[in-house]
Amino acid sequence: MQRFRVATTIYYGLDSLALLKQLAGCRVLVVTDAFMATTDLMAQVRQSLAGAEVRVFDRVEPNPSIDLISTGFGVLLEFEPQAIVALGGGSPIDTAKAVYKIAIEQGRRPDRGFIVIPTTSGSGSEVTSFSVITDLKNHTKLPLTSEDMLPDIAILDPEAVRTAPAKITADTGMDACSHALEAYVATGASDFSDAMAEKAAHLIFEWLPRAFADGSDLIARERMHNASCLAGLAFENAGLGIVHSLSHALGGSFGAPHGRLNAMLLPHVLEFNCGTLGFSPSALSPVARRYARLATRIEVNAGTDRARVVGLIAAVRRLNATLGMPKRITELGVDRRSYLTAVPTLAHTALADFCTAGNPVPVDAAILEKLLLKVA
Ligand SMILES: NC(=O)c1ccc[n+]([C@@H]2O[C@H](COP(=O)([O-])OP(=O)(O)OC[C@H]3O[C@@H](n4cnc5c(N)ncnc54)[C@H](O)[C@@H]3O)[C@@H](O)[C@H]2O)c1
Ligand SMILES: [Fe+2]
Repeated sequence: MQRFRVATTIYYGLDSLALLKQLAGCRVLVVTDAFMATTDLMAQVRQSLAGAEVRVFDRVEPNPSIDLISTGFGVLLEFEPQAIVALGGGSPIDTAKAVYKIAIEQGRRPDRGFIVIPTTSGSGSEVTSFSVITDLKNHTKLPLTSEDMLPDIAILDPEAVRTAPAKITADTGMDACSHALEAYVATGASDFSDAMAEKAAHLIFEWLPRAFADGSDLIARERMHNASCLAGLAFENAGLGIVHSLSHALGGSFGAPHGRLNAMLLPHVLEFNCGTLGFSPSALSPVARRYARLATRIEVNAGTDRARVVGLIAAVRRLNATLGMPKRITELGVDRRSYLTAVPTLAHTALADFCTAGNPVPVDAAILEKLLLKVA
């Protein structure tokens, strides 16, 4: 018996922030970062929460750490909120999820629920049971997982992403792209997750370049916001793969943006997972055949399955180029020599990562080292 779960109620489209008015009369803890706390969006959130008693925890930083979670939980203990609202990208959302989980464990579940307002179109964290926390001591990212962390409500308002700068649009968009492409071939993939992953990929290839070129294009923002959420639903149920395992290891050590690392790794992992793309169509691996099918969904309609897979990987490289994504880790300011020294440790960290089990092709540390060297 298998299961496909959609636990979060999704409100989408312009003006969906107004839903917050239902929290009038409650104590509401808003979890966000210092920048988002100063924005017009935060002012709109405050306006919608005018009838509520609001406390803002705005100390979230990119790649939230274990210490940050305990500070956040301290605020929760003191304020005793009846609802938690997470406002921001994956970092504030994951922080709020981890704080919410501890509150439940301690018998302090806020009874009016957990609402998430993503302000980037990328992590899909508004509909997943994951929270990615950085372990600063061991230089790695820990994907915590618990269905307790599934938000009750996600509000997908395109206005919330309108102000995201082009670079963040690109990074987060490629995170969503990696979610769709990894979930599509992950070990837990099903007809249900395929439906979400295919639609997400279709939307991302069509609308991410437009959202990147003109952040005020609210139609592009809306389609990317929907795509990111669909990709989140796909990987929540299907799993991910080694793009994420490698990216978590690199992010934990070098602190680079998660989506940018994924973008850099994605074409290499696609090539590896597809296996040898010889000229005989019958020689294609099952993963390559699946990607050939996905290629048609993003309008890569070359004649043979092999040509379609090659076309899909080329399309990912073109998208990366359009978005100005790096090809090598050194372009992110990492010293090449230190990187080469770190590769064996990074490979072991990635091998132990939670996402490795979802990869459709089994890997070992030597394979992961080779992949890490491709971006040296
Ligand atoms: N839980 C999951 O399922 C999951 C999945 C993928 C990634 N993640 C995690 O999410 C984190 C990355 O999240 P992210 O990429 O969304 O970025 P983020 O939350 O780290 O934000 C990055 C920057 O963008 C700014 N920003 C966010 N929204 C903005 C807006 N609308 N306008 C202007 N600036 C804005 C923030 O202030 C911040 O400076 C990583 O820690 C990653 O590991 C989690
Ligand atoms: Fe991700």
